[in-house]
Amino acid sequence: MKYISNPPDAASLMTTARSFGNYDLPGALADLIDNSIKARAKNVRVHCVFSNVDPVVRIIDDGCGMSPDELQVAMRPASTNPTVERSPDDLGRFGWGMKSASFSQCMKLTVVSRKNGELSAAVWDLDDVDNWKMGVLSEKEIETLIDPLLKVSDGTEIIWNKCDRLFEGGTLTQEQFNHLIVHTRNQLSLTFHRFLAGEVRGCRLSIYINGTPIAPYDPFYSTHLATQALGREEIRHGRSNRVRIQPYILPHYSKLVLADFDRLSGAEGLLRNQGFYVYRQNRLIISGTWFRLVKHGELSHLVRIAIDIPNTLDSIWKISVDKSDAQLPAFLRNRLLQIIGSLRNKSAKVIRSKGAKIATGGNISVWNRHVHDGQIRYLINRTHPVIEALFDPKRNSKATTNSALQIIEQSMPVNNLSQDLGGDSVKVNQVTLNPRTIIEQLEIALPSMLLDAGGAMERLTAELRRTEPFAQNWKLVEGHIREKGWIK
Ligand SMILES: Nc1ncnc2c1ncn2[C@@H]1O[C@H](COP(=O)(O)OP(=O)(O)OP(=O)(O)O)[C@@H](O)[C@H]1O
Ligand SMILES: [Mg+2]
Repeated sequence: MKYISNPPDAASLMTTARSFGNYDLPGALADLIDNSIKARAKNVRVHCVFSNVDPVVRIIDDGCGMSPDELQVAMRPASTNPTVERSPDDLGRFGWGMKSASFSQCMKLTVVSRKNGELSAAVWDLDDVDNWKMGVLSEKEIETLIDPLLKVSDGTEIIWNKCDRLFEGGTLTQEQFNHLIVHTRNQLSLTFHRFLAGEVRGCRLSIYINGTPIAPYDPFYSTHLATQALGREEIRHGRSNRVRIQPYILPHYSKLVLADFDRLSGAEGLLRNQGFYVYRQNRLIISGTWFRLVKHGELSHLVRIAIDIPNTLDSIWKISVDKSDAQLPAFLRNRLLQIIGSLRNKSAKVIRSKGAKIATGGNISVWNRHVHDGQIRYLINRTHPVIEALFDPKRNSKATTNSALQIIEQSMPVNNLSQDLGGDSVKVNQVTLNPRTIIEQLEIALPSMLLDAGGAMERLTAELRRTEPFAQNWKLVEGHIREKGWIK
């Protein structure tokens, strides 16, 4: 056998790199922020404004920066072998992130860096990749380009031009862009919450998007008085690898203010956000998954479990290039199943513990949620002004009744109901078992039903047998109308 050189075509490989991983804007920015964290940056500033003509995105940090030689290596695709041991504070693995994350959003990547006062800059432009020749900018070119911060202190600036993917080929509207920025803020506040809160590295990381700082968002509400942090444990793998597991039961929604509740449940609802939250070197990589160990909804919505993994287990977890996916290693499977089992009852207790008014935009809700002996019932709030009007003979009219029915329809507590029904062993039981109430309801319904049946008892009984709640309580109803002598 002989060996011949068979390198990839530069332009093809770089274009293929656009599709490595499954980056969206927050995912791409997170990969760059990982690098800034590794470079011990305290501030990362993202400038990303809407523009129909040649939009530019800039990400500037005040980390240690790179020398010209280091920048050259950093710009190289696959700049580090993934098998190389990384320091514990290194969030990188593949030597691709800066390039693949950037090309997932743009065609032209420029990196300017300053280390010990020395500036250097390099460019990859996918429209012009010629046999691995990389653009290196002159001092003058750098001067015209750089952020004022790099003129006075060390750091790195990433510049994205030709943002075809980010702006969806120019079809993204201003409104869609604004949503994307809000989503990006929310994602980054979660992904880096420990860094933003100053829980790691002994100092806070500040991330700004268009000048506005991002606040940390702790998905466990770990400082909330009503959050239950359950037994934390460490699982060893090999001699030095430790995986930390910390289950939480979140506060019942009745104990949260509305803004917290909205954030807690997110766009996809509480149920979607239950599950494991996997942190790699304190950076969240996966949230709200059960790794198919249990179905979503089988446990209470309030269960979230933090799993902390070191970067030494990357290959066992099969971490993806974009750090958004990983596979649960076999050595953890059984223990996680046991932990899930022990959480079933605990979380059900929290969800059943307290009844409350349903959180809505206002203070007076139409529906109230009552919990008694582990049974949940939804009752209409009779003190609500529109409902109350029904009981006032002077104000009761067809219009009042119609308004009341409308607000009942509009305010059906569908979200709360679905949360309750998803909770493990929680029972929503709307059926009243009080016979007196049913008879009262029967007495009210009978005159019009009798009229509809044209006085025919057979038709009346047939109607009653398919009308709620009489059908479900047929023995009681039958006994009553027999007693009245209406049927024999
Ligand atoms: N903001 C930065 N400040 C200082 N050095 C940086 C910065 N961004 C990138 N680098 C350097 O460039 C190298 C390559 O970064 P890149 O993100 O492409 O790969 P990686 O971080 O090594 O691995 P991964 O593909 O897992 O992200 C980094 O290892 C780091 O040395
Ligand atoms: Mg990286």
